[in-house]
Amino acid sequence: MSFDLPQLARAIVTASLPSMESIGWGILATGKIAHAFARDLALTPGAHLAAVGSRRLSSAQAFAEEYGAAAAHGSYEDLVADPAVDVVYIATPHALHLDNARLAFEAGKHVLCEKPLTLATADAEEMVRLAGVHDRFLMEAMWTACHPVVRALRERLRAGEFGTPRHLHAELGFRVDAPPEDRMLNPELGASALLDMGIYPLTIAHLLLGPAQQLTAAGDLSDRGIDLDIAVVGRYAGGALATMTASMTSYSSRACEIATDQGRIRFDDFHHPTEAVFTPHAPGPGSWVVEPGEPVVVVGEEPIIGQGYGNEIAEVGRCLRESLRESPLVPHDQTLTLLRQMDELRAQVGVTFPG
Ligand SMILES: NC(=O)c1ccc[n+]([C@@H]2O[C@H](COP(=O)([O-])OP(=O)(O)OC[C@H]3O[C@@H](n4cnc5c(N)ncnc54)[C@H](OP(=O)(O)O)[C@@H]3O)[C@@H](O)[C@H]2O)c1
Repeated sequence: MSFDLPQLARAIVTASLPSMESIGWGILATGKIAHAFARDLALTPGAHLAAVGSRRLSSAQAFAEEYGAAAAHGSYEDLVADPAVDVVYIATPHALHLDNARLAFEAGKHVLCEKPLTLATADAEEMVRLAGVHDRFLMEAMWTACHPVVRALRERLRAGEFGTPRHLHAELGFRVDAPPEDRMLNPELGASALLDMGIYPLTIAHLLLGPAQQLTAAGDLSDRGIDLDIAVVGRYAGGALATMTASMTSYSSRACEIATDQGRIRFDDFHHPTEAVFTPHAPGPGSWVVEPGEPVVVVGEEPIIGQGYGNEIAEVGRCLRESLRESPLVPHDQTLTLLRQMDELRAQVGVTFPG
């Protein structure tokens, strides 16, 4: 029997929601991630693209035509003022997130804001404060935390099914070939391997091992003072250790491996894996020989919607239907904890942002 996955996703998510009107999304900015998000939005039940806003009307119009948005706006102000928009998805460079979120809250909209929420914790605290003042929903778009495979792995690991984690290794990187003014390299826009990619290894370690007790970093900086490569060592509850890297100069494996006292878990594309595999190990006949046992494949209870952004979109929809102001999967406290960690690591490697 074969399944149409988007259809299956729609059926499962719709069945778990009270019947309500579809949630109207407004996408703020038309860059790379906005396109990926719009593709998954089209696959997500109970959600539709109501409008898109760009600094240039022509860009908004092209985007609206490509993804079937009802309205295209030539400014972010016009987007947030659109009554058909219930929730705004902020997809601008990190340095602009706080101003964009303020605009949305003041217009009475809920917000899903790309990661990292802001460059530094103080700005993120301000964003959380504004969400509270305006009584609006706010979630960082940390799709990994909403991902069905990551959620299932977290639950089963916490239940002790795979033994006690002792060491986690995660790496994320790719070569950035971009002009110096691009957000990936421009310090004015918050360029940083740690903020762009390193946030994922830190998040997976936080989700699977708990809050870090100690973090130490080494970095390699560009001549403009941004971290192009960073390696972090962390200590977690019970003495579990993590090694994590992020790179803008090399193609890292994008894999995560967790060694436990019972075996080894591996998952590729760890920030949006299709599955995780636990291989139990037992002592073999010789002193250094280990016998691998039957692998256990971990998949999520819910289907992955699109690339996985659909699961984060569905989570926002669930929260809005339940009148929540934050998601239990990406609580404000978790976002702020990760930002505090990154403030500290940035200071250790000597990166500061203009202003
Ligand atoms: N969740 C994920 O998997 C993921 C992946 C990639 C990126 N991200 C996050 O998403 C955000 C955007 O990343 P991106 O790769 O989509 O960036 P991008 O391709 O450079 O797009 C950013 C967009 O922001 C708008 N913008 C407004 N002011 C700008 C300015 N001064 N300079 C440049 N752009 C400006 C532009 O849209 P308009 O011209 O239409 O206004 C631009 O297209 C970042 O915070 C990043 O960390 C998340």
